[in-house]
Amino acid sequence: MSLLRVENVSKHFGSLVAVNNISMVVEPGELRAVIGPNGAGKTTFFNLISGFFPPTSGRIVFNGEDITALKPARRVWRGMARTFQITEVFPELPVRENLRIAVEVAAGNRLNPWLSRDADGEVRARIVELMDMGGLADKADRLVGELAHGDQRATEIMMALALNPRLLLLDEPTAGMGDQETYDITQLIRKLHREEKLAIVLIEHDMRVVFHLADRIMVLAEGEPLAEGTPREIGANEAVQAAYLGKAAA
Ligand SMILES: Nc1ncnc2c1ncn2[C@@H]1O[C@H](COP(=O)(O)OP(=O)(O)O)[C@@H](O)[C@H]1O
Ligand SMILES: [Mg+2]
Repeated sequence: MSLLRVENVSKHFGSLVAVNNISMVVEPGELRAVIGPNGAGKTTFFNLISGFFPPTSGRIVFNGEDITALKPARRVWRGMARTFQITEVFPELPVRENLRIAVEVAAGNRLNPWLSRDADGEVRARIVELMDMGGLADKADRLVGELAHGDQRATEIMMALALNPRLLLLDEPTAGMGDQETYDITQLIRKLHREEKLAIVLIEHDMRVVFHLADRIMVLAEGEPLAEGTPREIGANEAVQAAYLGKAAA
């Protein structure tokens, strides 16, 4: 069974059609990219998948269940987590405490004022595991707001991972980063995909990242699907070159 089936979703904001009749199927463990120029509807498409607002029309099925009407938090419990185009962390808290919040939410401890010593030990162990995986162990006690952009992004990604998703949605994970940070985040995404067997859909503007990482790519333009295929197919697609890659390379 497919992990995610997006069926003919559209989203209108007044007279603006931000997303027009887009479908996408994601298999377990697959790594997909969504690309397209600014304003193409990429973030809106993610907002529909993650439930930040309902589609004007269409249907979203996750793990065989119709989740079209479910609130974002309910989708998280079913195994879907995301990050944002502008990094969402608690900048005034250390890395360790940012992760603690996500780990405790995932464990259901946030509603439990009487945390046992055992449960706290499990939380601490999970935080350490996530910091190691995210390359953050030596920054555990640093305030996230004082870290480099790449480390803030790694913190956000590991917070999403703390929710134990089967599908991770990443909105422009390398936005605003230099070459080294872009490389580091790309390596982290690859690692999560390979070692955690996560299905990942990422929105990305950096073509090197997309062609390096993705199994399949969907190109959006003005809210519409322009093309879909392997990196090789997309690279050779004339409509895509004309609409997007040509401009990006210039
Ligand atoms: N909440 C909203 N209300 C009104 N218009 C929106 C909203 N979100 C996005 N849009 C509009 O939808 C279009 C697509 O935006 P977006 O999905 O952010 O594009 P992308 O992520 O591809 O740059 C844009 O014209 C944008 O202004
Ligand atoms: Mg966007």
